Amino acid sequence: MVAAGVNFGFAGPASGGQLVREIGQTLIHDAEGTSWATQPVPRTGCPPGPSGVDLAEEIAELKRERNAVILAHNYQVPELQDIADYVGDSLGLSYQAAQTNADVILFCGVHFMAETAKILNPTKKVLLPDLEAGCSLSESCPPEKLKAFLDAHAEKNYYVIAYINCSAGVKALADVICTSGNAEKIVRSAPAGRNVLFVPDQNLGAWVRERTGRAMDLWQGNCYIHVEFTARSINNIREQYPNAPVVAHPECTYAVRMLADEVCSTEKMVAFSRQTPAREIIVVTEAGMLHRLKKEVPGKLFIPGPTDNCFCGECRFMKMNTLEKAHAALLNMAPEIILPEAIRKRAEAPILRMLELSKK
Ligand code: 13P
Ligand code: SF4
Repeated sequence: MVAAGVNFGFAGPASGGQLVREIGQTLIHDAEGTSWATQPVPRTGCPPGPSGVDLAEEIAELKRERNAVILAHNYQVPELQDIADYVGDSLGLSYQAAQTNADVILFCGVHFMAETAKILNPTKKVLLPDLEAGCSLSESCPPEKLKAFLDAHAEKNYYVIAYINCSAGVKALADVICTSGNAEKIVRSAPAGRNVLFVPDQNLGAWVRERTGRAMDLWQGNCYIHVEFTARSINNIREQYPNAPVVAHPECTYAVRMLADEVCSTEKMVAFSRQTPAREIIVVTEAGMLHRLKKEVPGKLFIPGPTDNCFCGECRFMKMNTLEKAHAALLNMAPEIILPEAIRKRAEAPILRMLELSKK
């Protein structure tokens, strides 16, 4: 069964209505986590500085002053990956956020990632260099639509598994969270006999359903980047590099996953690339991943998976964060992630459940 039968195609944060804000304001969820208000933040921004100012060095200095930690996702621009204390996938970043002793977390990633860090650290300041850094997948499952669907199908008594790429409002409605790195384990741990609803990514959901054999209803959301890769584009690149294995993210479509030698999270792509004897590897995910791979697995050739059009494979939300904005965030201690306690608390339980189950 297909959940929510509605085509929740991509509507960017501004058009989706959930992330609308004026420049210089901080987003705040309402008590239900479904709409937003704003609060002013200082507008000083990052002083351009005379040429020769080393932003990376200034960030390191600010980091010491603030007792801050910098966490960055694998898709961030190279300059941000290079100044981060930790670079990784959503799962690794969640563990880092859960165990940090820092007072401030500068999260170089997208909104739902920084929000997850805040859910786990209510007393710490969590900064996101650009609050507009949303996610098409998260937008495809607004909490009020999920709530309406669950109410309309109350007889199913769904066990809701939410991929971490969703808002705090959706996490608050879930029984457990998963990432691409632990989805199989989390789905296998779902109570027997319960109907399972997997939100919001239909491709990750279908992949994990194939691997586990567990029946699940899937929310019809997707990532606007990963659905751009096609069987034709992958077959074409394979012809050019016949000895290169294809490693693809599970957010890719079925046709692309079927052509891949390995389907895994971004972190597991690093491990796969290290361990394969192949010298050339075709990487089918967001383009930022190549920086991490080149850095950690030197001497191999990483070929970005192409699409059928001029699309560059860069997530425009991930790329909203820059070194300048990261500097401004630490300088101004804004923009900050703020959540109502009721939503935070409800969203925390399924994340903690995931962290616990994932360790086993
Ligand atoms: P990972 O958890 O595999 O890094 O994926 C996050 C993401 O946003 C993929 O598009
Ligand atoms: Fe969201 Fe896709 Fe960007 Fe990942 S790559 S943050 S799923 S829009």
